[in-house]
Amino acid sequence: TTARLTLDPAFAIGEVDPRLFGSFVEHMGRCVYTGIFEPGHPRAGADGLRADVLELVRELGVTLVRYPGGNFVSNYRWEDGVGPVGNRPRRLDLAWRSLESNTFGLNEFMSWAGQAGVDPMMAVNLGTRGVAEAAELVEYCNVREGTAAADLRRKHGVAQPHDIRLWCLGNEMDGPWQIGALTAREYGRLAARAGHAMRRVDPSIELVACGSSNADMPTFAAWEATVLEEAYDQVDYLSLHHYFDPGRQDEASFRASAVRLDGFVEDVVATADHVRAKLRRSKRINLALDEWNVWYQSRFTEPEDRGIEDLPPLIEDDYTVTDAMVVGNLLISMLRHADRLTVGCQAQLVNVIAPIRTEANGPAWRQATFHPFAHTARLARGTVLRAAVSSPSMATGSFGDVPVVDAVATRDERTGELTIFAVNRGTGALPLELDLRAFPGLRAGERIELADADPLIVNSAAAPDRVRARTEEMPVLDGGRATVLLPAVSWHALRFT
Ligand code: AHR
Repeated sequence: TTARLTLDPAFAIGEVDPRLFGSFVEHMGRCVYTGIFEPGHPRAGADGLRADVLELVRELGVTLVRYPGGNFVSNYRWEDGVGPVGNRPRRLDLAWRSLESNTFGLNEFMSWAGQAGVDPMMAVNLGTRGVAEAAELVEYCNVREGTAAADLRRKHGVAQPHDIRLWCLGNEMDGPWQIGALTAREYGRLAARAGHAMRRVDPSIELVACGSSNADMPTFAAWEATVLEEAYDQVDYLSLHHYFDPGRQDEASFRASAVRLDGFVEDVVATADHVRAKLRRSKRINLALDEWNVWYQSRFTEPEDRGIEDLPPLIEDDYTVTDAMVVGNLLISMLRHADRLTVGCQAQLVNVIAPIRTEANGPAWRQATFHPFAHTARLARGTVLRAAVSSPSMATGSFGDVPVVDAVATRDERTGELTIFAVNRGTGALPLELDLRAFPGLRAGERIELADADPLIVNSAAAPDRVRARTEEMPVLDGGRATVLLPAVSWHALRFT
């Protein structure tokens, strides 16, 4: 059997927002310490930032990085991480029951972000703190001079304001695991009050309200509706988080994880628009998928069941070729919703369920999942086009029969380039017939494929390039048509110029 894909410039969904290719740095495990920051490492600069990791972050093509949490932020005092390092307190972090040295904080992060070439997405603590501390943090970051917090920043050696545009109003406040978790009504009110005060400091900031921690939360959809009823006018984005666990479902359902993400995004859009109609507003709330990834959560030990540790290596999952295909497919799903989903943060960036891994005092390397992210971030430009795909289907335990092939495309009107992103989620090879007759004059460009005879192989410090994306020969377009063979469990980018 064969799959077919037809594209037309009229099937436009929306523009690719570069913010879709964001990531996340949390003070968790070894993401910060011995991840991006390791004073004394042979590749670290005088500021302790690892140059080998910075090089990989730039190659990954990350545009935006959320910081400092995650669950960590809900008991964090941002003041602990600024000023002379010798004066900073050593704290017990309640989220991960870890010791926090505070030798890395806000200003170190902003210096790292500048070197990495990424925009920050800053989260405020609405778990153990509230309106005043959130507004003060905006003042410390964004006011030029002449106020207590702005002058404190200047005293800390940062003369120019950080000018941080995008702010998260807390993190996963619906989750019983969250320090200071709230009901939807309580959180919606607090988000509205904090957002109001933060905007008084800097009216140009954009605010993200917490949506559900995952699509399976018992409060899902009711939470979103209530939070937006309280905070609709103050916020610009509603967040959604979802992790896909290979251990908690049948294998075919895991390979089809993007089906679940499609449904989740569409349900959140519907809920946000329901509140818009109810409140009779014209503004639309867009979506920020500000935590997503494959995570072997079934292997995770809850903080309550661990002792207090210094720099524990938390959730350092090794990613397989199958996981990389799923990550590539999740990016396809995100692009498919580019009209409303405009911020994405893969969680996390280094070591903690991450595309980049490091050893303390050792090398940094790319996981299998690095490759589909890096190529999608590099090639997805311009307008997202819906791909009309007809494909054989595969049976899944969670979603019934779903198409084996999934795809989306982007077209850069300035250069005329067209890129198709596609996956084969099935366990057998499949020819994909392309019908690009609606784009006369296109020529075959680059073809990148990620696949392996063993879909369970992973990269490691010893074999850092065992899984790579390979450049393959692109078939010549004949009258706007070509056929590409998609191996079992594979991810593809096909660029035409
Ligand atoms: O990314 C790991 C954790 O997952 C984050 O801290 C939290 O927000 C989510 O539950």
